[in-house]
Amino acid sequence: MGIAEVALHTMPGAFAAHSPPYNLPHGADSRRRKRNTNSVLNARALQGLLNIPRVRSVRLQCQRIDDLARVTEENGTWVKDVMNNASQVLGDASVPDQAVGGNGSLNGNTTKPPPQRRKTSSVEDEAWELLQESMVYYCGSPVGTIAANDPNDSDPMNYDQVFIRDFIPSGIAFLLKGEYEIVRNFILHTLQLQSWEKTMDCHSPGQGLMPASFKVRTIPLDGDEDATEEVLDPDFGEAAIGRVAPVDSGLWWIILLRAYGKCSGDLSVQERIDVQTGMKMILKLCLADGFDMFPTLLVTDGSCMIDRRMGIHGHPLEIQALFYSALLCAREMLTPEDGSADLIRALNNRLIALSFHIREYYWLDMQKLNEIYRYKTEEYSYDAVNKFNIYPDQIPPWLVEWIPPKGGYFIGNLQPAHMDFRFFSLGNLWSIVSSLATTQQSHAILDLIESKWSDLVAEMPLKICYPALENQEWKIITGSDPKNTPWSYHNGGSWPTLLWQLTVACIKMNRPELAAKAIEVAERRIATDKWPEYYDTKRARFIGKQARLYQTWSIAGFLVAKLLNEKPDAARILWNDEDAEILNAFSTNRKRGKKVLKKTYIV
Ligand code: GLC
Repeated sequence: MGIAEVALHTMPGAFAAHSPPYNLPHGADSRRRKRNTNSVLNARALQGLLNIPRVRSVRLQCQRIDDLARVTEENGTWVKDVMNNASQVLGDASVPDQAVGGNGSLNGNTTKPPPQRRKTSSVEDEAWELLQESMVYYCGSPVGTIAANDPNDSDPMNYDQVFIRDFIPSGIAFLLKGEYEIVRNFILHTLQLQSWEKTMDCHSPGQGLMPASFKVRTIPLDGDEDATEEVLDPDFGEAAIGRVAPVDSGLWWIILLRAYGKCSGDLSVQERIDVQTGMKMILKLCLADGFDMFPTLLVTDGSCMIDRRMGIHGHPLEIQALFYSALLCAREMLTPEDGSADLIRALNNRLIALSFHIREYYWLDMQKLNEIYRYKTEEYSYDAVNKFNIYPDQIPPWLVEWIPPKGGYFIGNLQPAHMDFRFFSLGNLWSIVSSLATTQQSHAILDLIESKWSDLVAEMPLKICYPALENQEWKIITGSDPKNTPWSYHNGGSWPTLLWQLTVACIKMNRPELAAKAIEVAERRIATDKWPEYYDTKRARFIGKQARLYQTWSIAGFLVAKLLNEKPDAARILWNDEDAEILNAFSTNRKRGKKVLKKTYIV
């Protein structure tokens, strides 16, 4: 990103609209053209027809983050020493020394020598070693971790990239270890990628979108046969399988930004003008008006961790929990200034409406299921009990047997005349972490996990969702996806990375023993199995059919779980306490004997 683009990030109001069509440095544009010849041909023809100005589309060239800080900081608050003085949440954690090298993935395109897998003393030591080997460098500084780092994988597809969502547990592990630099670099470099003009067949998604992943490439320098330069090359979904938009990226970015500040004590990053603007761009995109009747965020299928067609379009729980969490985190970090009052008001309104909607309509337990079972339908009125016109016949037979007498959970999705009754782990766990769930609901979710241990944990924590789609349902809902066959991958597979979110949720609810039990299950085999991405079968007995090995977020998820289990207080950098205003809004309405939040919310 050049200075002009940095300026875009620092311009008040820059987030409000698409950026103006900048003139590109010629070289950068032609490089991009060369790379994308096939897809660009069609796009260009379309462009001509529609008379659309050529879009800005350039990869980020090597630039030191501190130089950018100098450009963007008006008051020069960035002080390097802050790192040294920072209060480390973990204190003197008993972990190895600072990272010294890693695989030095300076160039995503060159073949690197296969890392030697050494025998180390413990599973945890091996995990640290592997995490350091997965570090990716840009201009000599660490900026992220590669998604999977299997030396024997000859076709890594895009698993040789840094995924935003995958980096979160890596980032937390580094923070807990007192290694702040990589997290700071990650936050600032991905922020630079955010303000790019990105297109798919001449259509640009919203300006605040964060990429799903990026890669460090080394390419020949223009006009010089012998020289090369490094560039950051992001994927906003325009190359991803299914062309899915990574809605969760920006939300995770905000959550990590807050955790970075809380853990390192360095608030100068979140106070930077470009970071504040980036945050507002994400919020604006999420809070923008649409056609929707609900306060939940409307997204397409595959817009989060489950990034393939799995019938989670609409209002999937995972996105709502991350959205809620990101709103709370952002509210804590936004510096009050002229012109931000409207945004804060919209944010507050949305928080209240969202928590009410999820707590009330997504909640399912024995009692609620019984209510649904007896629902009247076709109620046209403001006082309808069955507001979304759910036909009781939708209740799947598995659920009638499965719902425990004690415990409950948030359903996966809610749409007009449709409830997705599947249990999605990440959405439920993050609802606990973010306090989207009430205290009672949070305990009930953990009760359910405990009582359904053999379904959700079994031989490896944790099922991404339960149960799997089978037969006709699998055919229709996944489009006969051979990767998402029943009890595999996203369709009821078991993902070790989810261990860290489970641990944070358990610690928050003061039930760490539950997480400890899951960690023990993972520790028994995860290193011997070479840190797979996911496991297959009902009880997670097999390493996933197409699972990558040495999957970084399986490694980092395990490490974070272990570290937090040892120092539970550190989990505070991740969770949000129950919002006082929301509690107030609910109780005031209750005291007045009103039906809670029956008013319309202006967002
Ligand atoms: C798969 C997962 C996605 C993850 C990516 C890289 O596509 O579904 O959540 O980010 O792999 O590990």
